[in-house]
Amino acid sequence: MRAYAMYVDGRWIQAAKEGTFDVVDPATGEAFASVPDAQPEDVDRAVDAARRAFDDGAWPRASERDRARVLHKVSDIIRRERDRLAELEVRDSGKPMGEAEEDIDEAAFMFEYYAGWTTKVMGAIPPVGPDAMSLVIKEPIGVAGLIVPWNYPLLMAVQKVAPALATGCTVVLKPAEQTPVTALELAPILEEAGLPPGAFNVVTGFGASAGAPLVKHPKVDKIGFTGSLEVGKVVMREGADTLKRVTLELGGKSPNIFFADASFDEAVEGTCNGIFWNQGEICSAGSRVFVERSIYDDALQAMVDHGRNVKVGSGLDPATTMGPLVSKDQQEKVLSYISHGRKEAKVALAGDPPDDPALRGGYFVPPTIFYDVSNDMTIAREEIFGPVMSVLPFDTVDDVLRLANDSDYGLAAAVWSRDIKKALNTAKALKAGIVWINDSQPAPTEAPWGGYKQSGVGRELGPWGLEDYLEVKHIYINLDDGDSG
Ligand code: NAI
Ligand code: MG
Repeated sequence: MRAYAMYVDGRWIQAAKEGTFDVVDPATGEAFASVPDAQPEDVDRAVDAARRAFDDGAWPRASERDRARVLHKVSDIIRRERDRLAELEVRDSGKPMGEAEEDIDEAAFMFEYYAGWTTKVMGAIPPVGPDAMSLVIKEPIGVAGLIVPWNYPLLMAVQKVAPALATGCTVVLKPAEQTPVTALELAPILEEAGLPPGAFNVVTGFGASAGAPLVKHPKVDKIGFTGSLEVGKVVMREGADTLKRVTLELGGKSPNIFFADASFDEAVEGTCNGIFWNQGEICSAGSRVFVERSIYDDALQAMVDHGRNVKVGSGLDPATTMGPLVSKDQQEKVLSYISHGRKEAKVALAGDPPDDPALRGGYFVPPTIFYDVSNDMTIAREEIFGPVMSVLPFDTVDDVLRLANDSDYGLAAAVWSRDIKKALNTAKALKAGIVWINDSQPAPTEAPWGGYKQSGVGRELGPWGLEDYLEVKHIYINLDDGDSG
């Protein structure tokens, strides 16, 4: 059992009140680490450090090239530490090892990608007439408070930390209470790469005692949040008093549209992965599966067969393709949706938890498929955040578009068809920030990520992900020399 400290101002500290809480391995239900239980005064300390590092420190004043060099080095060190970080991520979040390795690789790439952007943030010189000149320059916003969830612990943190540091912002990161370990492991990596003290701080704690004070803090300029719709609304409201820049990456109830002319096997596999990967704990999971009526029975059968072959177990077992859910709370939440779903719709698949006695205390929920679901049922409207697929039949493109768009969410959508015109026209008509054609879930670092409607505010990743860490300054220069000639 490892007792972690938190990282504030380049030092490892305990919480002021010396409280700690356990970090649990969801495959066994047993604690494997403990972390400080940060309170508002600890958040103050971290914010003060980040504020000083921004106002007087070296990081925002470093040359773009120097910042790039540090971020490149971070990528190298993450790659060097890959196996260790991947194992910690599995123990912390439950996900299968192969998926954790992909997360670590993408996190390393994100630092490399944003290292490249440090030297490419450009201003502009808009025309303002013959007697003046306008320079538009971009500056880092200041102190960024970054609050992240537990489904992709390191990746969700790095998705915010890398662009924030690239612009010269300083950071206070609050990982989810369920999965704080890899965020803490990031600190020595950034330090080794040469990041000065105070530029990056981690406070481990719960939403009410550590997240909320960060959102309200007058010395924090920006909040980047990923998590539930419910808390996202609170963050926006609480951030309003200090008029914080707020970006939100919230939930989804993403449609997956399976047309009869799709490449059948490919569509079955992609549709299933879209809801069973990462135990379905994905904001963009394709949880509403619309299937064209002429292939409805065949597709349902094929997806049930696929779901039956999912190997549920510990993420550390190489044979595992689906791990436990992240926590007992999440398991209970998903199981309660499943029992509700049994009253609303028909069950095509309800798998069994693993029979290994060593995993008896784990938070497993096997793949579950409901069919003959209608779009007004609870299981078609609310985000379940588990491996629960709802299958709904449709007849025409217009029908499925109306149903797919009938949701408060608008994060992602997938379209499976070999007819490129139909697929593209469907993609254009969907109210979603990301539409996959003949695929589900890829989220390349180079392309924007974020939601329409109540799925969020702002965009992460790619150059879009930089803009929310930058202020725009206009410098106007009077060039009128009084000479009318
Ligand atoms: P949550 O939204 O409560 O937690 C996300 C982060 O926000 C955590 O770091 C948490 O400590 C922090 N937080 C909680 N309350 C806060 C507050 N008042 N002020 C500031 N920060 C606060 O999500 P939770 O409870 O872990 O999961 C509940 C549901 O949320 C899931 O079942 C799922 O439906 C959804 N969710 C969506 C995610 C996404 O990627 N969009 C990620 C995690 C959860
Ligand atoms: Mg919560």
